[in-house]
Amino acid sequence: MIPSSLLTALRSARRLVVFTGAGVSAESGIPTFRDALTGLWQRFDPAALATPEAFRRDPALVWGWYEWRRMKVLQAQPNPAHHAIAELARHVAEFTLITQNVDDLHERAGSDAVIHLHGSLQQPRCFACARSSTTPLAVPNEPEDGRRVEPPRCTHCGGRLRPGVVWFGESLPATALNAAFDAARQCDLLISVGTSGVVYPAAEVPHLAWTSGAVVVHINPQAAARQAEREFVLRGPAGEELPELLRQAFGRALGARG
Ligand code: OAD
Repeated sequence: MIPSSLLTALRSARRLVVFTGAGVSAESGIPTFRDALTGLWQRFDPAALATPEAFRRDPALVWGWYEWRRMKVLQAQPNPAHHAIAELARHVAEFTLITQNVDDLHERAGSDAVIHLHGSLQQPRCFACARSSTTPLAVPNEPEDGRRVEPPRCTHCGGRLRPGVVWFGESLPATALNAAFDAARQCDLLISVGTSGVVYPAAEVPHLAWTSGAVVVHINPQAAARQAEREFVLRGPAGEELPELLRQAFGRALGARG
C-alpha cells in the first residue's frame, strides 16, 4: 500500500533525487555486498580484494576478481527498477540520480548524467600515474571467480591498470560527492533504493536531504520501520515497488510512451 500523502508529495516534487545501492541491481542478478548468504562480503574478504594494499600485494588476484564482476554486469540486463527510475526523470522539473553502484545498468536503462560515487567497473586508471585508460577493456573471457588475471599496462607509463572503483580507505571523487550533497540539500523528495546505508560518506546523502526538509522514501525488502516525520518505507523489491510508485503517482505503466 503506497500512502496517498507520499503520492501527493511525489506529484508535487520539483526537485527529485534518487539514490541507489546494490539492491537496485539485485533483480538483474548482480549480487549485493551485505545480504545474508548471497552478499559479496559474505563470501569474499574486502581487505584482500578492495584496498590499495591488496592490489599492491597481488594485482592479478584483485584484477581477476573485478573482471569477474565486470563480466557479470556485461551479462546482466537492467531490471524494472532501473527502467522506472529513468521514467521518473520525465515527470519532474529537476532530477538527479546518484548511485553507489559501479555497474552501468542505470545508463543502459536510459538514465543520463548519473553521479557515480564509487566509480565504475568500465573506467580503469593507472595505479602508478593515475591517468585514466583510454583503451576500451576487452570482454572478459574467464567466467570463474577467484581466477587471477594480470592487469593490462598503462599506455603512458607502463604501470599496472587498476579498476576505476573506490576502494576501502580511499576518498570518493570530490566532484561527484559535492554534486550529490548539493542535490540532496536542494531536493523536495529523495528516494533511497536498495542500500544498507552503512558506508560513509555516501550514506550521508539521504540524511542530508531529510535534515534539509525533504521527504525521504526508503525502498528495500529489509527496510526498518518508518522512524521520522517526512519519512516513508516501501518494504519490497525495487523491481516491484518502483514501477508501482510510478504507476500510482503518474498513471504510467513501464514501457508506455507518448
Ligand atoms: P549492501 O549490500 O550493503 O546493501 C544492499 C541493500 O539492498 C540491503 O539493504 C538489501 O536489503 C537491499 N536489497 C536486496 N535486494 C533488494 C531488492 N530486490 N530491492 C531493493 N533492495 C534490495 O549494498 P550497498 O548499500 O550498495 O562500496 O553498499 C554500499 C557500498 O558498500 C557499496 O557501494 C560498496 C560496498 O562496499 C564500494 O565498493 C566502495
